[in-house]
Formats: sequence, C-alpha cells, structure tokens
Amino acid sequence: MKDCIDILDLTKEEIDDLIHTALDMIADPAKYADCLRGKRLATLFYEPSTRTRLSFESAMQSLGGSVIGFSGIQQTSVSKGETVHDTAIVVSQLADVIAMRHNMEGAPMLAARSCSIPVINAGDGGHNHPTQTLADLLTIYREKGGFENLTIGLCGDLKYGRTVHSLLNAMARYKGLKVVLIAPKELRIPDWVKEDVLEKNNIPYVETEDFEGSLADLDVLYMTRIQKERFDSLETYERLKDVYILNAEKMKKAKDDCIVLHPLPRVNEISTDFDDDPRACYFKQVYNGRYMRMALIRHLVLQNEKTFRKGEDEITDVLHCTNPRCITATERSIHHVFRLRDPKTRTYRCIYCEAEAVLPEK
Ligand code: NCD
Repeated sequence: MKDCIDILDLTKEEIDDLIHTALDMIADPAKYADCLRGKRLATLFYEPSTRTRLSFESAMQSLGGSVIGFSGIQQTSVSKGETVHDTAIVVSQLADVIAMRHNMEGAPMLAARSCSIPVINAGDGGHNHPTQTLADLLTIYREKGGFENLTIGLCGDLKYGRTVHSLLNAMARYKGLKVVLIAPKELRIPDWVKEDVLEKNNIPYVETEDFEGSLADLDVLYMTRIQKERFDSLETYERLKDVYILNAEKMKKAKDDCIVLHPLPRVNEISTDFDDDPRACYFKQVYNGRYMRMALIRHLVLQNEKTFRKGEDEITDVLHCTNPRCITATERSIHHVFRLRDPKTRTYRCIYCEAEAVLPEK
C-alpha cells in the first residue's frame, strides 16, 4: 500500500494487520506514543468536517507527530486558484503524509498521483471515504467478532453516501455477505457499485424502499444522512430528507444483536430515544475510527515505498470524462485517465470518479 485512496488499496491482510494494531493501541497506547515523533501530517480539508479532521489530528498527535493544514479554503491560495496538483506538490515538501477531503470526486487520487508522499482520502465528493470504512470495520469486528456471513442493510442516501460505497467495497471480500439496499428510487446506489462491487463479486443483494419490512433479517444496519450538499435541487432534498427515521419502537422488529451504525453527523435519521440501546454503536465508531487512523498513518509513514500510482490497464487522453462532479471538470490541465472495465464491451472507467465510457471501434 502506498496511498489510501480507495479501501481496496488495502489487502484483506493489511486490513487485518491494521485491526490488530488498532486493538493493541487501544490496549497499550503508551507503546505508540512516540512512534511518529518528528513526522508531520497535513490535513487538507477543502470541505467541512468535524469528526474526520479532528480524528486525523488526534490520531497523529497520539503517535507523537504534529499536524499542519487547513479547513475551508478561504484563507488559502486555493482561493487564488491553485490546483490540487500544485498544492499536493507544495505540501509534500512540508509534510510526511497528507489527509485530503474534497468536494470533487477523485481529488485525493489526483494528489496521490502528483506527489511523492502518501495521500489518504478523507472523503471525495459522493464517491469514497475509506477511513470511515476502517472505523466501521473495527466496530463490526469488535461487536460481531468478524466479517463473514453477515447480512448488512444500508439505508438512506445510497447515491451520494460515500461511506456506503467504500464499506460495500470492503465487505464484498468476505464470505457469506448478503446486502439489503434500502433507499428511495432517487437515491439508489450508483451503477458502478452495483456492477463492479456487488455483481462482480456475486454478492446477493436486494433493492427496496421498505425500511421496516427489512429490519428482521439484518445483522448490521448502516444508517446514513441524506446528503443535502450534493443535491442539484433543494426541492428534491426537502421531499426526501426524512424518508427513513429509525427509533426505539421500530428497532423492536430487528434482531437482539443487530448493531446499528451511522458515520455521523446524524440529522433526523436516528431518534435519540434509541441511543441507550446496546445495539446503538454509532458513537463507538468515532472511538474506533481514531485508532484505525492511528494504525493507518503509522503504517503509511513508516512504509517508505511510495511510488507513482499507475495501473497496467490505463489509457491516457483517449477518452474524456464528462462527469461534472469529477476533479477533471475543474482541474483542466490534467490528463483524463481511464482503466479498462470490460474488454468485450470496450468499457472503461475514469480512474478519478468511476464514470463509464466506451471506446469507439476504430
Ligand atoms: C460522513 C462523510 O463525511 O461522508 N461523515 C464522516 O466522515 N464521519 C457522512 C456524512 O457526512 O453524512
């Protein structure tokens, strides 16, 4: 692993290692208190965040390292028009690892390809959020004892909910997974997740709008916030915002050991009357997230093997990405890079945002 842009940058074995390191850090934090002394994390947060940024900062400090960075672009040269590419090169000379959150899909990938230090994706638009997945995985591991043979329900904004995309990518590698996708039709999971994650891995899944009717079968229920900031129309958001609300009464229909996760912040999706139920694990995710970030940062900074990211099946400047949410839409000077998805249909996906494109016959 060189960067952590996608959860699949980590093998299953690396995830196991991070989990065991995080558990050791929880048991004996003093052992790690100085391991990154003299090292610096740069948190480049182009988009609002509370818990993720503070979690990264507190993680680095708990390892003895220090933190520089920004939160919001008003006071930075980004507001003068500096590109992600240039910012990454500049920051790589001042820090040892970058954690980047950006509203455009693929921005951390671009940073990773631009600079020589490890880059961590702290959330890119509605695309991916691998370190939230690390928090989710440690929580599932501690509560359920492992990842096999679980039925997971994901509920709410499955279209823009980046944490859902990364979690499914991670869980698809474990045996016996079943998935229930609970969303209104406007907020269904994107095709790239359905095709490249669920179908490619032969994961049985159902798509439904029926929340209460789905509860009885679940081992894990992953609630999400409707992502107001990503809607093109406020009217659609207003219509959908309270579509699923979990409360103590509804959870009577779920199993006694069905854990409830939520990446937070919650708006209305989980009523506070459920918070004292032992199945409510959303605040535990915050705790676990800090230790998983500690394990990840330590691993990346000590690895010393960063090389330029390039896949073997990539083509450059042959296809053009037309997704307006992709970093290629704002960062005009960069190459459009696609990786092969299916040679039979000549379909490719943008390496930044997964948008599909078909290579025309010659
Ligand atoms: C999530 C995110 O930013 O995607 N929050 C987080 O990182 N804990 C979920 C959300 O904002 O709804």
